[in-house]
Amino acid sequence: LSLTVSSNEGNASSPLLYGFMFEDINHSGDGGIHAQLLRNNGFQGENATLTAYSAVGGATLAVDSDNPLSQAIQRSLKVSVAEGATGQVGFSNEGYWGIQVNQARYTTAFYMKGQYEGDVTVKLVGTSDGTEYGSRTVSVRSNSSAYSLIETSIDANQAPDGNNLWIITFDAAKVAGGALSFDLIQLYPPTFRNRYNGLKPFLAEPLDAIKGSFLRFPGGNNLEGSSENTRWKWNETIGPLKDRPGRQGDWTYPNTDALGLLEYFYWCQDMNLTPILVVWAGFSLNSGGNTPITGPALEPYIDDVMRELEYILGDTTTEYGALRASHGQAEPLPLPFVEIGNEDNLGGGNLTYPERFMAFYDRIHAAYPDITIITSHAEVENLPDPRPAGIWMDFHTYAEPDQLVANFTQFDNVDRAFPYFVGEYAVIDDAAGERLEYPNMQAAVAESVYAIGMERNSDVVKMAAYAPLLQHLNDYQWTPNLISFNNDPDGLVLSTSYYVQQMFSVNRGHTILPVTADSAFGPLYWVASKSDDGYLIKMSNYGGASHDISVAFPQPCSGILTMLTGDQNAQNTNLTTSVTPTISDIMSADGNLHFIMPGWSVVILDASPL
Ligand code: AHR
Repeated sequence: LSLTVSSNEGNASSPLLYGFMFEDINHSGDGGIHAQLLRNNGFQGENATLTAYSAVGGATLAVDSDNPLSQAIQRSLKVSVAEGATGQVGFSNEGYWGIQVNQARYTTAFYMKGQYEGDVTVKLVGTSDGTEYGSRTVSVRSNSSAYSLIETSIDANQAPDGNNLWIITFDAAKVAGGALSFDLIQLYPPTFRNRYNGLKPFLAEPLDAIKGSFLRFPGGNNLEGSSENTRWKWNETIGPLKDRPGRQGDWTYPNTDALGLLEYFYWCQDMNLTPILVVWAGFSLNSGGNTPITGPALEPYIDDVMRELEYILGDTTTEYGALRASHGQAEPLPLPFVEIGNEDNLGGGNLTYPERFMAFYDRIHAAYPDITIITSHAEVENLPDPRPAGIWMDFHTYAEPDQLVANFTQFDNVDRAFPYFVGEYAVIDDAAGERLEYPNMQAAVAESVYAIGMERNSDVVKMAAYAPLLQHLNDYQWTPNLISFNNDPDGLVLSTSYYVQQMFSVNRGHTILPVTADSAFGPLYWVASKSDDGYLIKMSNYGGASHDISVAFPQPCSGILTMLTGDQNAQNTNLTTSVTPTISDIMSADGNLHFIMPGWSVVILDASPL
């Protein structure tokens, strides 16, 4: 294949094109990127269980509703001690299927209530052999009338695996025949950018390495709730952790909401991402509860969104701006995008979406004309007619690899007046139609072909995100995912799709350049762009045969070639990493750059004028 890159400039490419969609699915938030390591720490969600807790030293544990920590955290742990007991008693928490313990200083905290004056010891220990990796003893004075907050730290040694427990014990003799209450136990490793209540470095760092441009949050289905009452409620995710009730998330497990509205904005700040806030639009999953809500009944929910926007954007003279300031964030936060609902075309939501969209649009646009408002789907027949000028549309696709490749030209001839946000896309099946556990090489190449199609049209496709982002390998609801993990020090899986996202996002041009070729697209696909210091070519080989490639640039260049390649079914899994990018230099032989694209490969050619 011979390509000739034109010096004439084509479409401007969207500076936001590559980014992230995040919701709490697969324990991507609690137990995932959120750094708090202890599970079920406020007994949130619909069922009160002792999940993750075990008694230590003969204590008896029970979930208790008689000693609420706060209005929000209504349940606590009652630790009863037998008459005549001596020695150390207490309880353990196993975290999210274990706790990763590294050589680091961990901060830990717990609320405690009940008559006690004496030492309390917190430890990190191996589950199987009791090896102690760190411990701290603090002197505590607590009483029966109110909870005391105890905060301390543990200097830990490296544990060989993630099979570890947090244990807290106290002097049994001082409580014998009685009980103590504990609540909102917490354990944090050092966090990404040292943010209080922040992100886990081992997951935040590979995301940061993608150098994405935006973060869409908080869902996804997890915004919607199974009913209006169980939707994600912004005002229950802010302020001190003891004031956040949590909720039964939409992906089978309770959410603590410790990763709440402000934390999403701090995540954006710390990774230089543009926030895209999704708001509930009167529709729960599959028309759950009393939804869809329409007409005047929708107004209170729009009011609620206006309060949320004031919390984000208002200065401290406003009621909710002042509330934000009381939470430690005096400066308003940037919010250029608001999306109305999530996939409200599905489950019967399509019939009422035009009305509901317009009700939210009118109020938000009148108050904040600079915010770009995004629809929750891109079925034009299920959008308002006419569509308000300036809106963008969120399009989602989960496909077989051939399907995604067939959609390479999807955006070539769309109406340029209404830009697209491809808010969720991924190959989810292998070539035989079987659901993938992890992305494989064919999936990654198909996604790269689709991404090339989007980048060629990035005057109208403004943003795109692979989804879902993160998966805890011990408990998940969806495969495949971009990054998988467990608690072992080497439990991180960067998938084939991860590397495509990273290669495409890190290498961005500002203007698409026309290319002439001596053959048509397929199985080879390409896009060229002008970067600040040269030219970038992205290419995919969606087939098993290798091809000789020659590229002529407007001026002689040398190049750096980043290549991802592997067998069609090759996967990076928690057992093996078989596919990672390689980098090589290419020198110009005859003014052109030549290289070979092996079967099932994705390359970036970064060309610099000689
Ligand atoms: O990414 C998983 C789910 O797929 C999202 O929650 C939803 O928006 C889509 O259907």
